[in-house]
Parts: sequence; structure tokens; C-alpha cells
Amino acid sequence: MHHFHRLPLLMIAALALPGCLPQTKPAAQTTGAQDYAAYCSACHGSGGMGDGELAAELAKKPANLTGLSAKNGGTFPTTRVMAQIWGYAGKKGQDVMPDFGPLLDGELVLYDGGAGTETPTPTRLVQIAEYVKGLQK
Ligand code: HEC
Repeated sequence: MHHFHRLPLLMIAALALPGCLPQTKPAAQTTGAQDYAAYCSACHGSGGMGDGELAAELAKKPANLTGLSAKNGGTFPTTRVMAQIWGYAGKKGQDVMPDFGPLLDGELVLYDGGAGTETPTPTRLVQIAEYVKGLQK
């Protein structure tokens, strides 16, 4: 008799699990500026000019991130910038930029990078892209 009473409770517990969506987690603890300083400025420079302290030692010159909008007809290429960062995750050693894994973990937000579609995107990635957008000349 007791088994029959316990069963519905287990089913409710199982049904409640999909409710744990990433969007319900608290906001990221770092700002775009902090993440940029930690992950990007060594190569791209604190102002994004491509003149970080590591730049001279690199075979490939770090891009000047202040001219991305200008090169793109006046529109900040958000999706391309994110793809540049995102695309490097897990490919450490294959190219110049390091693995930004930590930036891609954690909370997701729905973000429209300009394509008209909202995509679940890591919060810290959005913050960095917004920060780089703010560096445009
Ligand atoms: C170890 C040095 C290094 C670090 C750290 C680094 N980059 Fe780069 N980045 C480069 C180099 C070199 C290039 C140009 C060659 C290439 O694409 O690999 C580049 C290219 C780019 C481009 C492409 C620019 C264009 O014209 O499309 C973007 C955007 C970019 N980086 C953003 C970032 C951001 C944001 C960060 C921090 C999350 C970062 N980079 C960290 C070295 C670095």
C-alpha cells in the first residue's frame, strides 16, 4: 500500500527538474571591463588599439579593436566578435588567442547580436562584446 503512495511524489520530483533553467541563476559577478582587462588587454591593449604588452612577441599582430565598426560600414559586428571569442573555446594551441573557456561557462542570457534572433549566450561573452563595442572610435 505504501509504495503506491510514494510513486506520485517521485513523478512530481522528476517533472520539476526541467524547471532548473540557466536563466534563473544570478547575474555574472564580473563586468565586461574586468573580463576585458583579464583576458584581452595583454594583447589588444587596454584601449583596444592592438598595443598590449604581449603584442610585440606575437607572430600575428593583435587586431585593433577600436576600428571594427568603421571597417564594417559603421555597424559594430557583434556576432563576428562573439564568434571570434566563442570559436576559440577548446581550440587552445591552434591559433594565437587563448582558450576563453571560463568566459563561456556560467549563466546564459537571451541575446540578439543584430541578426534579429535571440540566442542563449553566455553573459560574460555578451558583456565583453558590449565593452568592445564601447571602445569603437
Ligand atoms: C594572446 C593574444 C590575444 C589575446 C589574449 C586576445 N586576442 Fe584577440 N586577437 C589576437 C590576434 C593576434 C588577432 C589577429 C589574428 C587572429 O585572428 O588570430 C586577434 C583578433 C581578434 C579579433 C578579430 C578582429 C577582426 O578584425 O575581426 C577580435 C574581435 C578579437 N581578437 C577579440 C578579442 C577579445 C574580445 C579578447 C578577450 C576575450 C581577445 N581578442 C584576446 C590576439 C589576442
